[in-house]
Amino acid sequence: MNTDMPTTPVFIERSWEMEERSWWDLWNGSFRAEDGRDETSTELFGHVNGLVQEVRKGSRCRVLEVACGTGTLSRRLSFSSYHGLDLSAAAIDIACKKAHSLALAPGVREPTYEAADFHEWPLAAEPFDVVLCVDAVSCFRDQALVLRKMAQSVRHGGHLLITTVNPFVYNRIRRADGGRVQNGPVSHWLTRRELHALIEQAGLKLERSYTIMPRGNRGILRFINSWRLNRALGRSGSAAFRRLKERAGLGQYRVVVARKTN
Ligand SMILES: C[S@@+](CC[C@H](N)C(=O)[O-])C[C@H]1O[C@@H](n2cnc3c(N)ncnc32)[C@H](O)[C@@H]1O
Repeated sequence: MNTDMPTTPVFIERSWEMEERSWWDLWNGSFRAEDGRDETSTELFGHVNGLVQEVRKGSRCRVLEVACGTGTLSRRLSFSSYHGLDLSAAAIDIACKKAHSLALAPGVREPTYEAADFHEWPLAAEPFDVVLCVDAVSCFRDQALVLRKMAQSVRHGGHLLITTVNPFVYNRIRRADGGRVQNGPVSHWLTRRELHALIEQAGLKLERSYTIMPRGNRGILRFINSWRLNRALGRSGSAAFRRLKERAGLGQYRVVVARKTN
């Protein structure tokens, strides 16, 4: 997060004034109190859900979600057991309330949620089949420690799935409020190379890394994401172009799939 204080004009991001937990309480209460609130996160959760199905070949599994927010993803996933943790007690409160109204398949345990700082979280007694972290790795103050703890939480042969904002695209999205992005307490936007290095240093094998959901309307992205170009390409041309942009690293989110092989 940029902490250089501007001189004039003065615009104070809420995150500069607020304690970390309070910021995340506010963020979760504003943006994640309801499921399906915005198209972007709904698409992202849908992608992660599909990816879990794919790596687990459709079988239900034991899931740990680090920085689960209000548990939105957990309400879309199929699992045998699920544990979510998040720094924000307000988010966990929402998740717990919603858990009671979930219709669960026979033999599936009700998801559990816990308010905790993952840096200090004692590892679970048993490792998980899949560990997930959606749009949160940039928020941790010690990203190397967090990646090691995530890796330790994966069982042998299991997977770690991470999605994180792609700063190249994120910084080229023009916002309705004139470009003021209220990122919250972002510690560091990891580059692709940095994220890969941390995953490998944590002892996991990187299986896939790609971007999804091309977006952005500043600079070159203004042209390549324009509706005019997409209309000119037609439906199938536009779908192929979208895949090309995702492969070229022009998606809003990076998705990383890693496996514990030793
Ligand atoms: C951008 S939000 C994403 C939340 C959720 N994954 C989602 O996509 O809705 C980042 C989340 O990371 C959580 N977080 C930040 N630092 C954390 C920490 N040290 N331990 C656990 N959770 C943390 C915040 O409380 C917040 O809910």
